[in-house]
Amino acid sequence: MSQVQLSDTLREWRESAKYWETHARTIQKMFAPLTSALIEEAGIIEGDAVLDVAGGPGEPSLTIAAKVGPAGFVMCTDAVAEMVAAAESEAARRGVKNIQFQQCQADSLPFENNSFDAAVSRLGVMFFPDPVAALREMLRVTKKEGTLSFAVWHESNANPFAYIVTDVVSRHMKTQPADPDAPGAFRFAEPGKLVRVLAEAGAVHVRERLLKFQIEAPISREEFWEMRSATSGTLREKLDALSSDLRLTIANEVKEAVAEYFPNEQMSFPAQMLIVSGDKSN
Ligand SMILES: C[S@@+](CC[C@H](N)C(=O)[O-])C[C@H]1O[C@@H](n2cnc3c(N)ncnc32)[C@H](O)[C@@H]1O
Repeated sequence: MSQVQLSDTLREWRESAKYWETHARTIQKMFAPLTSALIEEAGIIEGDAVLDVAGGPGEPSLTIAAKVGPAGFVMCTDAVAEMVAAAESEAARRGVKNIQFQQCQADSLPFENNSFDAAVSRLGVMFFPDPVAALREMLRVTKKEGTLSFAVWHESNANPFAYIVTDVVSRHMKTQPADPDAPGAFRFAEPGKLVRVLAEAGAVHVRERLLKFQIEAPISREEFWEMRSATSGTLREKLDALSSDLRLTIANEVKEAVAEYFPNEQMSFPAQMLIVSGDKSN
């Protein structure tokens, strides 16, 4: 990928950081089942040193810090300084001590070889400009026989949290189909695709599992739209180009279309994600 595309991706994330920080508690609840799956698949236990790559405003880092306890620690990293700052202030607010922070890109990690028992990335790897280079780098800093674990979206049509908004928006404006190999949420949605990348990077015992769960949080449809329209840079840019009347129409149509996923006015979407893991050979 060219430098221009790389800086576009990071610019979008830089601009998204304040919204991810605003909605961090909702996002933590929504994706808690992914964090549990990563902890399980990477075999993270008390006392471990764990690297989180693309940790955004602090997850799964903060949950893993509680899991590894005072005898272990987490290194929370992200390419965007504003995301790292948000994670740092949330850790301070919660009084979490066994966590450190570093702004860095996934393919250039400022750590010694064999530093971590495990390395994870939740909903991050699909945005890396060169995933093979990044996963090689994550393997380099992981100890022998340590595990790398990733959570990525499965196909959009299995995820109403994603496709309902996309469908409504595309009724009102021309949208280009996303390039499946360019950085984007569904880049590794096809089963086996990230498995091949992880094997190419040099991991052994590469495995994949489909995780079915509910994306849940105690928010209304109004709050869902507020979060959804703000936290995706791609969607924000599309909406910004429209008149305020059309934006209002889209907002109302989305709220109508998601009604069945808000029993008792609380969000609960069925979701499917892939958990892909591999080990560093000894
Ligand atoms: C969807 S967010 C996920 C954040 C967090 N892990 C979570 O699950 O809530 C993707 C994150 O990837 C980060 N990111 C994008 N490209 C990156 C890169 N090349 N290296 C490291 N982080 C990157 C973004 O800044 C953003 O914080």
